[in-house]
Amino acid sequence: MGVYHITGGKKLCGQLKVGGGKNAILPILASVVLNGSESVIHNCPNIADTLISIEMLQSIGCKVKYEGDTLIVDSSTADNWNVPAHLVREMRSSFIFLGGVLSRFGKCNISYPGGCALGARSIDLHIMALRKLGATIIEEHGFIYCSAEKLIGTRIYLGKPSVGATENIMLSAVFAEGETIIDNAAREPEIQDLEKFLNGMGAKIAGAGTSRIRIKGVEKLHRVEHTVMPDRIVAGTFLTAAAITGGNLRLTHINPEHLYPITSKLSEAGCAIRMERDSAYLEAPTKIRSIELITNPHPGFPTDMQPQFTALLSLSDGVSIIKETVFESRNRHIAELKRMGADISLTDGSTFIAKGIRKLKGAPVDAMDLRGGVALILAGLVAEGTTTVYNSNYIERGYEKIEDSLNAIGASVVFEK
Ligand code: EPZ
Repeated sequence: MGVYHITGGKKLCGQLKVGGGKNAILPILASVVLNGSESVIHNCPNIADTLISIEMLQSIGCKVKYEGDTLIVDSSTADNWNVPAHLVREMRSSFIFLGGVLSRFGKCNISYPGGCALGARSIDLHIMALRKLGATIIEEHGFIYCSAEKLIGTRIYLGKPSVGATENIMLSAVFAEGETIIDNAAREPEIQDLEKFLNGMGAKIAGAGTSRIRIKGVEKLHRVEHTVMPDRIVAGTFLTAAAITGGNLRLTHINPEHLYPITSKLSEAGCAIRMERDSAYLEAPTKIRSIELITNPHPGFPTDMQPQFTALLSLSDGVSIIKETVFESRNRHIAELKRMGADISLTDGSTFIAKGIRKLKGAPVDAMDLRGGVALILAGLVAEGTTTVYNSNYIERGYEKIEDSLNAIGASVVFEK
């Protein structure tokens, strides 16, 4: 549980390389158990969530080597279908290990992921889908006991375009008899990266990135080599850091296609943005313009950028309305921003009115979750005086040494373990 000490008032200027995507590598690591062979994965982000996933793979019997930003996993030795409960509680998204383990072994025991700072994090869609594919699921004492002699392809409609449920269905259906169709599937770019990875193993999947995905069952999968897509939320976070400090920033190794929902909102807020083949350049305005912001599943504005934008808009030239539609309580950062002088009111759990103020004041604040925590760092970069952000463990889950990246472009952030 480290602490970030941030001295505000420095404009961020310079260039940063963006690493591999946290929300791409996690489902990919949940899939390596499927081929009973070697998976070589490049551009892995060296973040806490990757390390938890590696621990998960080792606990089910896989061999893992981590060389630079390349992970080499041998799943031929995997022999355990009990996913460790303490790791699922530590990282809710490890629930996507269910689909891969079930497909490989015909059974999987995993604990309920439980709620978190963002809301209930229900898994009803995952359970509904697996039962439709023919799995027997017993829910007892906070655990899920899942088994299936044979999974049979079928048509599944998702009431919500859930990212995790879409991923779990893809992993559960790769060996299923016949064809599985997912309607109202999540369309996030990370789903396309997962389809590319699985097809690289020999799966037969089409449609990722659209709301209808088709998976044709195959008998066996083989060795695969893959490069993880860039992290669009880390890219958006650094662009917003340059915007909030009135600086300018070039980001390399990004995919412009993935950033449009974010860069279009940054342009609306007054930033000048230029996109090239695999880089983006942002120049901040002298004053951020107030805007209306509504989060939605992709290709809408990503919920994972809402806290960072809430910090940015607390310094706009007017009143901004922010509506969080994906998670019912992604608002724990608001109280902390108000300790720094922000004028933000919650009309209900998910609609915020941010009245732009002239200056934020440095203060001691608590990170309560990953993106809310990084929003406090962004606020500290521009606040008067020093801001201390506690609970670095949340931020380390999704950002590799964020203090080094920010200091490399002019910030003054000291990390205290
Ligand atoms: C993924 O979470 C991401 N995590 C989240 O990023 C991201 O915010 C989210 O998708 C939405 O884009 C990873 O990819 C590891 P969902 P996931 O299932 O899969 C409800 C970050 O900061 N729902 O799309 O858990 C759910 O409660 C993290 O990087 C059900 O009701 O998100 C939520 O309100 C945070 N029933 C909404 O759908 C279900 O069975 C979206 O959840 C499943 C979900």
